[in-house]
Amino acid sequence: MKLISSVVIILFVIACTVGCDDHIYIQGERLYEYHCQNCHMSDGSGLEQVIPSIKESTYFHEKIDSLPCLIRHGRPEYMTSDSILLNMPVNYNLTEYEITNIINYLRVVWYEDEPININKTRVLLQDCPIPAMRYGQ
Ligand code: HEC
Repeated sequence: MKLISSVVIILFVIACTVGCDDHIYIQGERLYEYHCQNCHMSDGSGLEQVIPSIKESTYFHEKIDSLPCLIRHGRPEYMTSDSILLNMPVNYNLTEYEITNIINYLRVVWYEDEPININKTRVLLQDCPIPAMRYGQ
């Protein structure tokens, strides 16, 4: 019995060394899966004509300073070509740490860019244009 559980533990450790997350942005990844993936999909491709792809989004590069506010306050009034009005939802329950972790997961793991600092997120979030408008445009 002891032998079996040891083998199970060893196999788990080996499996995790090889197959588990190969980056440190674990919380950001989990939060993305929970709060973003339903719409933007696991690879960020979105849903054609309904949800924009975030794969090539400038919000992770040139418009990075607008991203914390976009995540927290969402963005209304996205009109599809079929005149369907869509919203990027608000995320008032996410802390500034969690928002930073989501951004860094996407920015570093997906886009191989530098991580942003929590202090930057904090400052940017103090100055969000409210009511929600079309951020960064
Ligand atoms: C209910 C569906 C939904 C969820 C959940 C969602 N989004 Fe969005 N997202 C949208 C829609 C719709 C837009 C387009 C809004 C607009 O342009 O006004 C959008 C826009 C964006 C954009 C801007 C893309 C661009 O280049 O214009 C980014 C970046 C983004 N979302 C990231 C996220 C992140 C990160 C999360 C998780 C915290 C998230 N979204 C959760 C629907 C969603």
